[in-house]
Amino acid sequence: DLPDAGTFSWKAPSNIALVKYWGKLAGQIPTNPSVSFTLDTSATRTTLICEKTMDPGEFPHFSIYLDGAPAPHFSEKIRTFFERILPYQPFLSEYAFEIRTENTFPHSSGIASSASGMAALSLCLMDLELKIYPDMSTEFFHHKASFLARLGSGSAARSIKGGVVQWGEHDAVPGSSNLYGISYPFEVHPVFESFQDTILLVDKGKKEVSSTVGHALMQGHPFAKSRFDQARKHIDQLRPVFREGDLNAFMALVESEALSLHAMMMSSNPYFILMKPGTLEIIERIWEYRRRTGHAVCFTLDAGANVHLLYPGENKETIQAFLKEELVSFCQDGHYLLDRVGPGASRL
Ligand code: PMV
Repeated sequence: DLPDAGTFSWKAPSNIALVKYWGKLAGQIPTNPSVSFTLDTSATRTTLICEKTMDPGEFPHFSIYLDGAPAPHFSEKIRTFFERILPYQPFLSEYAFEIRTENTFPHSSGIASSASGMAALSLCLMDLELKIYPDMSTEFFHHKASFLARLGSGSAARSIKGGVVQWGEHDAVPGSSNLYGISYPFEVHPVFESFQDTILLVDKGKKEVSSTVGHALMQGHPFAKSRFDQARKHIDQLRPVFREGDLNAFMALVESEALSLHAMMMSSNPYFILMKPGTLEIIERIWEYRRRTGHAVCFTLDAGANVHLLYPGENKETIQAFLKEELVSFCQDGHYLLDRVGPGASRL
């Protein structure tokens, strides 16, 4: 029996990929596996109010609010999402939804909210499903939440669980799937549990190239096969790096991933340079600082100009002093966000 109404609230985190997802097949199937750190403070809080509708002819039936105000610019994305997930949650057509959402990170920070936003909404929808099927296991709940989130935005599949998460099938990683993200199943050295991610906002504008366009550029890309092989090889190499806490190998792998992602965009047709001069200034200063001091700090990039500075928690004071002295001047309005590895989504 379907409940007449329900209200569900979840907080879901953002995540930062170490091995990048870039390229997909139909049905949001990734062309290579990816691995990420779940973040802690960058998150979305969503409340979903469900009410059985008398008019099941209209689907999807929803309204969406961001920070309490109607957010019609999200409607198209949410509509597509509902249409994609209906085959997996057919009861959705019986309901009218009100979605109330807020992000912990500032608007127009250039930080995408799609991963945390789609994850939070998917978890709320799974709560409705749980009310209908109360016997489902916790594992099924999490896998299906990630499965639904993936259909909203690929990287959202990695925003359910905490710590290190893998999404995408890899022979050497048991339980890995193209359909949903899993907790990294191998040993992770404690040095990574306290890892910090400081997001340097070099460009707070809207993304120049949407990820939909970006993923599509990998189809027929001259280097696509090598790139997908490289990502798989990096995932193999991560296993001993995570186990032993080998920071030098970690930094080399993560920076190589970021630059390979950008190299793919520079060599696609059409081609793009998504770094800004400030991005390169920051990278050069990180390298110079590392040569000079030997301290563990590295960068990663997503499909934009902002830089994620990754470093162990035990180096926090030293690295944040370096950040203020040498890097903040390259951030737009001097803005950056302090984040760290976090525990995954939680019910509110
Ligand atoms: O989730 P999407 O489709 O917005 O793709 C995100 C792709 C990158 O952020 C560039 C890499 C990643 O794995 O998160």
